[in-house]
Amino acid sequence: MEKRQMIYEGKAKKVYQTDNPDFLIIEYKDDATAFDGKKRGVIMNKGILNNKISAIFFELLEKNGIQTHFVKLLSEREMLVRSVKIIPIEVIVRNIVAGSLSKRLGLNEGTPLKRTVLEFCYKSDELGDPMINNYHALAMELASEEEIKEIEQMALRTNEILKDFLRTKNIVLVDFKLEFGRVDSQILLADEISPDTCRFWDSSTNEKLDKDRFRRDLGKVEEAYWEIYRRLSS
Ligand code: TMP
Ligand code: ASP
Repeated sequence: MEKRQMIYEGKAKKVYQTDNPDFLIIEYKDDATAFDGKKRGVIMNKGILNNKISAIFFELLEKNGIQTHFVKLLSEREMLVRSVKIIPIEVIVRNIVAGSLSKRLGLNEGTPLKRTVLEFCYKSDELGDPMINNYHALAMELASEEEIKEIEQMALRTNEILKDFLRTKNIVLVDFKLEFGRVDSQILLADEISPDTCRFWDSSTNEKLDKDRFRRDLGKVEEAYWEIYRRLSS
């Protein structure tokens, strides 16, 4: 597949057209941002690691019946994906209290949740991705009722598959963010699944092995991304 013009550049990825309109190429960058782009930096080799880590997760999910946009890895930083229309809802899945949930509800970080929590955010850089509920999503026609039901089921199933797999790698899946896309009236899991978009804690020590090391200036950021890749690929 031939790489054509860039159609989108985000904070962590570039997206290119190909000579086939049904497929796009995603190129992962080393750039890192946090807090709506207010904090900026570079995490060396992050693009390579997030590309490979996302591919491992997408392949695992496909094997377990979740349809994703992933087709194959093309190079160290590039993957081929199905072209989808991204649904502008960020779906956050939480197993343990952390990050914004801890602040919002005054709960201690690390408290296990009695049941899985799903949150929706409206994907809008200008507004800072505000949290919304199903009623907002329907009123704004971001997705249909059936689509929302399917997205919720896919997100919960993805959580179970990832949690079980990560447990065998001595990693706790604290929370993560998913994005979905539409193609021919089908919903596919899209975007990426990486230490940028998940919280991973070491099962034995609770050490943070994700982007929180960058967000909170904890040091050893690149090492954490390498460690996740090493565990997933061993
Ligand atoms: P939060 O606790 O900051 O709301 O984050 C919840 C999860 O979502 C966490 O695993 C990080 C991920 N996330 C993103 O992937 N992109 C974002 O812009 C934000 C705010 C969080
Ligand atoms: N990537 C997001 C931003 O730049 C937020 C985050 O991951 O913390 O705002």
